[in-house]
Amino acid sequence: MQLEHPVIKLIPLFGKMSSGSRLTLGLLKDIYPEKGRYDEYISGHETRISIFKDHILGRRWFAIENGAKEIVGGIAIWPEKNDGWVGRLYIPDKFRNQGYASAAISELERHAKNLGIKTLHAFIGHGNEPSITTFKKAGFNVNEKLHHRAEGKGVIFSRILKH
Ligand SMILES: CC(C)(COP(=O)(O)OP(=O)(O)OC[C@H]1O[C@@H](n2cnc3c(N)ncnc32)[C@H](O)[C@@H]1OP(=O)(O)O)[C@@H](O)C(=O)NCCC(=O)NCCS
Repeated sequence: MQLEHPVIKLIPLFGKMSSGSRLTLGLLKDIYPEKGRYDEYISGHETRISIFKDHILGRRWFAIENGAKEIVGGIAIWPEKNDGWVGRLYIPDKFRNQGYASAAISELERHAKNLGIKTLHAFIGHGNEPSITTFKKAGFNVNEKLHHRAEGKGVIFSRILKH
């Protein structure tokens, strides 16, 4: 049970990404080093081209850095009208269950408010219990109105941000 969030910083990857810097790829390798269940996820997003496409689509990636300046994960946000979507959340195995995802979501909310976003949404695949727990803990609830957006593959969770 995490009572307090660990100290984290979100490092924007997009400026670095568009310049095609090696730093971005290096950081992404730190964030997505694992193979296995997330193979598809990783291979779909690891290359600079995919990340760059994401960037064109308005998806803003951040590396999550802890107090010891280690990269402990990644997260992205993209606006849609007055709403925003949070996704690409990934914490490598060895850093899980230390509150980093919760801290990153909370920090991303601050960023979302600055962008004028009123409600944040997240798609979560069926059976992804760690993710469901994490988003529920962060104050997200199942959004039946956006159910169709999950295309039968999962559930949309949403949270209205307090401005
Ligand atoms: C989901 C994920 C981001 C969570 O990261 P994390 O840093 O471990 O999350 P936190 O430490 O902030 O909180 C995890 C919460 O989930 C709970 N949790 C962890 N594993 C769980 C499991 N198998 N079943 C249910 N809950 C679980 C933890 O107990 C904790 O809640 P608690 O603080 O009340 O105990 C991480 O597991 C991950 O990267 N998974 C693979 C990628 C993924 O699924 N991304 C999300 C796509 S929507």
